[in-house]
Amino acid sequence: MSSLSEFHPSKRILMGPGPSDVHPSVLQAMSTPLIGHLDPEFLHIMDDIKAMTQETLQTANELTFVVSAPGSAGMETVLVNLLEPGDHAVICIHGVFGGRMKDIAERCGARVTTVEAPWGEPIDPAQLQEALKDKSPKLVAIVHAETSTGVLQPLEEISQMVHGAGALLVVDAVTSYCGTQLKVDEWGIDALYSGTQKCLSAPPGLSPVSLSSRAVQVLEQRQSKVQSWFLDLTMVKNYWAGAKRAYHHTAPV
Ligand SMILES: Cc1ncc(COP(=O)(O)O)c(C=O)c1O
Repeated sequence: MSSLSEFHPSKRILMGPGPSDVHPSVLQAMSTPLIGHLDPEFLHIMDDIKAMTQETLQTANELTFVVSAPGSAGMETVLVNLLEPGDHAVICIHGVFGGRMKDIAERCGARVTTVEAPWGEPIDPAQLQEALKDKSPKLVAIVHAETSTGVLQPLEEISQMVHGAGALLVVDAVTSYCGTQLKVDEWGIDALYSGTQKCLSAPPGLSPVSLSSRAVQVLEQRQSKVQSWFLDLTMVKNYWAGAKRAYHHTAPV
């Protein structure tokens, strides 16, 4: 490649676990002229994106939006906003991405207990129940579809256990979103993040996120500032607040 104007990527059929091929209409939309991130037309698009994200996640959660960054930023958004130094978090690990959640939770200053399953197997609810015994963690985090092993984790029984222990249920749905059943409200998921580049078949670079009213309450009761300025939902939520919208950052229009 001698210059950028000669960049013609080879045609590929993307069959790995993301990014996936996108529909020609999506590619066409990406070649339209840019508009400003505060243009009334773009604000309308943001409202549409929020409504479509709520619909696809089967949730009425008001705080449903997309982070202007990929799935890992969604993971970080949920954990940095819900955890404060000294909090107790239970992180389930049955592949690569559970390990990433543990790393982020520790960077938040949380005390982390792990529940682990051999790679290739789902987390055993009985093992989680044991980890919750006599403990009251602030949250339990688990990956719905572990991309590194292909395991789909059943969530309903685990959700009941987590709420029985008074904790919030955090779910990584980067790979499961739009690829399998995902009922945020019915299953009692309190915080969820995903990515656009897998089963949704959109380009990478956005992370759908949703927080239940219980999770929002925890956010509002924080004693300390959220460690990350960019991902601080106490500010980002105003950027997605319909007509009252306040500038936070330049969204990837
Ligand atoms: C289950 C899971 N969680 C998190 C991520 C991180 O997402 P991203 O690569 O978009 O940052 C991935 C990426 O493959 C994933 O599969």
